[in-house]
Amino acid sequence: MARYAYVNGRYVPHGDAAVHIEDRGFQFADGVYEVVPIVNSRMVDAGPHLDRLERSLSELTIAMPLSRKVLELVMDELIARNGVNEGLIYMQVTRGVSPRDHKFPSGVRPSIVMTTKRVRFLTQKKLSDGVKVITIPDIRWTRCDIKTVALLPNCMGKTEAAAAGAYEAWQVDGDGMVTEGTSSNAWIVTHDDKLVTRPAGHEILRGVTRQTLLRIAAEAGLTFEERPFSVEEAKSARETFLSSATSFVTPVVELDEVTIGDGTPGPLSRRLQGWYLDYCAGLKNSA
Ligand code: PDD
Repeated sequence: MARYAYVNGRYVPHGDAAVHIEDRGFQFADGVYEVVPIVNSRMVDAGPHLDRLERSLSELTIAMPLSRKVLELVMDELIARNGVNEGLIYMQVTRGVSPRDHKFPSGVRPSIVMTTKRVRFLTQKKLSDGVKVITIPDIRWTRCDIKTVALLPNCMGKTEAAAAGAYEAWQVDGDGMVTEGTSSNAWIVTHDDKLVTRPAGHEILRGVTRQTLLRIAAEAGLTFEERPFSVEEAKSARETFLSSATSFVTPVVELDEVTIGDGTPGPLSRRLQGWYLDYCAGLKNSA
């Protein structure tokens, strides 16, 4: 089956898809992106992902490249053309093409690119077995709430994690508190069964998965706290896990070579994972 990408108004074969060399996304990372999971041929939480796209764009004074309605139609069309029933859709919007100059140009049309990828998410071993995580200093900027394509520190961190045989790196601020993973949000479960995750300020991305999990937790009557937690607290927590559009709820069983709990995914992480997967499959409604 041919694989298509969507580039500025056209569906083109994936291998031929290209943007201009003076696209500001290419030269300055002057753009933002979203990753939306697809489960059972349906996008999961497309609405909140598009809300966040609009917010990221508005924080950077980049216009929406298409109306929300058209954007949704294009997403559906690309998923259908590429026959994706499990995987993801990636969308990137940049300020557009303009002669290289640091200051934002005016009157430039934003560029938009979309691709899809098939991924067999639901049978991945990381969901059942859990993963190892390392910690690294958070060397990013102070607007991590904007989902920009400027991901070099995140790429460095993920590479360091892989070199250490870990799946993810949790970034740590100057006070020893965990901010978030390089491409996921970080969570702990305390010994009195409270879910804890950092508040969604400027230091982290307000994960769509995170928001849905908080809602599911509230509906299930679980107690949770949005507060920073330290590396030390995480290491001695009852359970730890991470969340994202591509990791769903992934248990963390080792942090900096310290075993969490008994080294297997904890019961609360597994329950949340189950509820979240049901939600993704459309089997469970949440708010
Ligand atoms: N990353 N924090 C960071 C830094 C992220 O890059 C992501 C997502 C998240 C989780 O957000 P969400 O639940 O909305 O996926 C948190 C995507 C998956 C990526 O870059 O591929």
